[in-house]
Amino acid sequence: MKNVLIISASPRKQGNSDILCHRFMQGAKESGHNVEQIYLYDKKIGFCRACYACFKSGECILRDDMSDILEKMQAADVIVISTPTYFMTMNGMLKNTIDRFLPKWKDLGGHDVYFIITGHDEKAGLSLVGEELTKIFRELGNEIAGIIYGEGVWQKGEVEGTKAMDEAYIAGKSI
Ligand SMILES: Cc1cc2nc3c(=O)[nH]c(=O)nc-3n(C[C@H](O)[C@H](O)[C@H](O)COP(=O)(O)O)c2cc1C
Repeated sequence: MKNVLIISASPRKQGNSDILCHRFMQGAKESGHNVEQIYLYDKKIGFCRACYACFKSGECILRDDMSDILEKMQAADVIVISTPTYFMTMNGMLKNTIDRFLPKWKDLGGHDVYFIITGHDEKAGLSLVGEELTKIFRELGNEIAGIIYGEGVWQKGEVEGTKAMDEAYIAGKSI
């Protein structure tokens, strides 16, 4: 049994990336894993102030939900990062959250990481997001276990019935 943490960056619950997260979760649960999903938009996460106080203390000066998220990430065996594509890249909520990794950046490795990426463009237009996230999470010392692209989807629910649904389920199931 593994602990799986799904971090969802879309503001849209039941949106396309959320639907794919649920498929991933379904597969993972069927394989006996423990799954928790968190929605970044439900959390209070301030912007990194680049004060570097964390370099001395190991802790951020901001008192918000980020320390809890970092603890959950460290405790997870598998981390799933899910984001819609906004202007060719990950959305701002996710990027802001990643900037807040700074106090623990040396302690966020050793996980199997999956990415779930959606967008109205076809895969070639979304792949920059996958490349950026791969670089960031590899640099932190993680293994990139898979990338699921929900391509060609715009309005909520359009991902239903696409091949990404099977890909997300199979990825979760095969953890
Ligand atoms: C601000 C904004 C920018 C967007 N930029 C892109 C883009 O550059 N490429 C793309 O393929 N889709 C873009 N989209 C469309 C979303 O990625 C698409 O609707 C996606 O399915 C949303 O995922 P969600 O339902 O999980 O929120 C954009 C949407 C918004 C709101």
